[in-house]
Amino acid sequence: MAKVNENFLKLPGSYLFSTVGKKVREYENANPEKEVIRLGIGDVTLPLPQAVIKAMHKAVDEMAVQETFRGYAPDLGYEFLRSAIAEHDFKKRGVDIAEDEIFISDGAKSDSANIQEIFAADSKIAVCDPVYPVYVDSNVMSGRTGEYNPNTGRWSNVIYMPCTAENNFAPELPAETPDLIYLCFPNNPTGSALTRQQLQRWVDYANEKKAVIIFDAAYEAYISEPEIPHSIFECADARTCAIELRSFSKNAGFTGTRLAYTVVPKELLLDGTMLNSLWARRHGTKFNGAPYIIQRAGEAVYSEEGQQQVKEMVGYYMENAKIIYNGLKSLGYTVSGGVNSPYIWLKTPQSMTSWEFFDYLLEKANVVGTPGSGFGPSGEGYFRLTAFGSKENTVKAVERIRKLG
Ligand SMILES: Cc1ncc(COP(=O)(O)O)c(C=O)c1O
Repeated sequence: MAKVNENFLKLPGSYLFSTVGKKVREYENANPEKEVIRLGIGDVTLPLPQAVIKAMHKAVDEMAVQETFRGYAPDLGYEFLRSAIAEHDFKKRGVDIAEDEIFISDGAKSDSANIQEIFAADSKIAVCDPVYPVYVDSNVMSGRTGEYNPNTGRWSNVIYMPCTAENNFAPELPAETPDLIYLCFPNNPTGSALTRQQLQRWVDYANEKKAVIIFDAAYEAYISEPEIPHSIFECADARTCAIELRSFSKNAGFTGTRLAYTVVPKELLLDGTMLNSLWARRHGTKFNGAPYIIQRAGEAVYSEEGQQQVKEMVGYYMENAKIIYNGLKSLGYTVSGGVNSPYIWLKTPQSMTSWEFFDYLLEKANVVGTPGSGFGPSGEGYFRLTAFGSKENTVKAVERIRKLG
């Protein structure tokens, strides 16, 4: 008799963004005359850069001609894209990453969910709290966690590293030793970043404990300060303890186009086994390659024209981040993030819970954000706003919050 994977049944019901979506829909249905501004979900809104569109059109035309038609892509991704990545994302920053250490995929979400498969079933994971939910949920599905406690909002058998104002939203080395450490910096949801020195401490710790860091650098393009590393491989000896996830979603607007990559260095060995080979095996078995057209689009991001357009796009969002950050700060809110990240993280006023503030903002200002508690118990009392709206709406949203008094 077939049975379901009971680990799935452990997952608590509703996903954060579906609850947010439901509440907003209900409000809009009840108040059709109100114009609701969405600064909640971390999706981009600007169209793809022209250089990317041009490359996609050209690739589409190639697919129409027998001589240039492409079928399955190589397992690891096309060489033209992997070499552009190695050159621009790493070599230019003084980091040596070989092309066969780069695995092209269709998203950092799926990579961050799938990477746990190459580790032992009894691996202990450590995550920041609050956290991008995929890291925990993917480990729940594979049976690596214990039970969920709805009172604490935590799973047993998971090491939580609280990131709050008290530690400036930077996790401290855990008391209990983990096997896998998920770090995402610049961070979703807090918008905080780690300096090179802070990240080096984690690398040294992981090497000492023989743990592996899964470093999610999806927001790397938003870094504006020189002391913040763009890649974990800027840290000494990271090649023996780290895997890095990158995405084209937030730097180049590929959220609906889908393209990402994972770096697994060849020096990363566990009990003499190269994780690079395991991930290659896994990738080759379960993934049949990102589309040629999209990989050409990704290549165009690294062209001179593409780089300029991507910079303008990130600049546009970061201007919004500044508008939210400065606007709320001038109103007396306690705000952080928004400098190396498109996320602004604010303390809810008057000791409101995250969801109380969500309702308050929706009803009184018609502005949608994301309750911090949805990302983990240490997010309670915090709220996330994103810089991905239009400038016009961002200005309007801050004005509406100002009028709340
Ligand atoms: C931390 C983090 N990693 C990964 C992703 C997903 O990236 P992708 O669009 O490449 O799947 C997101 C999206 O919001 C994210 O916040």
